[in-house]
Amino acid sequence: MLKLAVLISGGGSNLKALIEATKEPDFPAEVVCVGADTAAPGLAHAAAAQIPSFVVRPADFATRADWGEALAAAIRDHDVDLVVSAGLMRILPAGFVGEFSPRLINTHPALLPLFPGAHAVRDALAAGATETGVTVHIIDEGVDTGPVLRQAVVAVREGEAEDELHERIKQEERPLLIDTVRAIADGTLDLAAVAAAHH
Ligand code: GAR
Repeated sequence: MLKLAVLISGGGSNLKALIEATKEPDFPAEVVCVGADTAAPGLAHAAAAQIPSFVVRPADFATRADWGEALAAAIRDHDVDLVVSAGLMRILPAGFVGEFSPRLINTHPALLPLFPGAHAVRDALAAGATETGVTVHIIDEGVDTGPVLRQAVVAVREGEAEDELHERIKQEERPLLIDTVRAIADGTLDLAAVAAAHH
């Protein structure tokens, strides 16, 4: 059974979907802890499922590196096999990435390498994109630059608002993330091999 840490900043709908998936009898992974950088509303999904959670706030540390070390220490306590950033709206420091990557993945609401960063849905609309989507990728040292594992395309509707489009992206994102985690857990997807091929 693959042990997952999930990192969030917001509502945690991806976390909720992942927790629900792991309750299926044959699902080969379990969420053993949930971490956040703030008092994220999504932590309620962890509490409801009796999954331990922790909040590690960047403002409580002198440097980003110190924050990353504290976050890593909290995860280490849970003997985790894979760290899933699912709506964590922070760039993870190099020390953290060095410790966990390639067993460190992120889900991003755009078709990377298009529209990296914190405003992917807004940026796609502003660019007049007719399609966008979601990418699950390994986190490397860059910002949304790591090897792509899975993508799903979402067509942009005429005059669509950012929140509407983001919600439609999330409807594709949740099953894509679950499928990616399942593939990693059952050995179909070899993160070390993908990372090695990327370098
Ligand atoms: C997701 O769409 C995720 O891809 C995005 O935040 C949302 C979190 O939703 N992440 C980023 O934009 C990271 N750059 P959720 O809290 O409902 O799972």
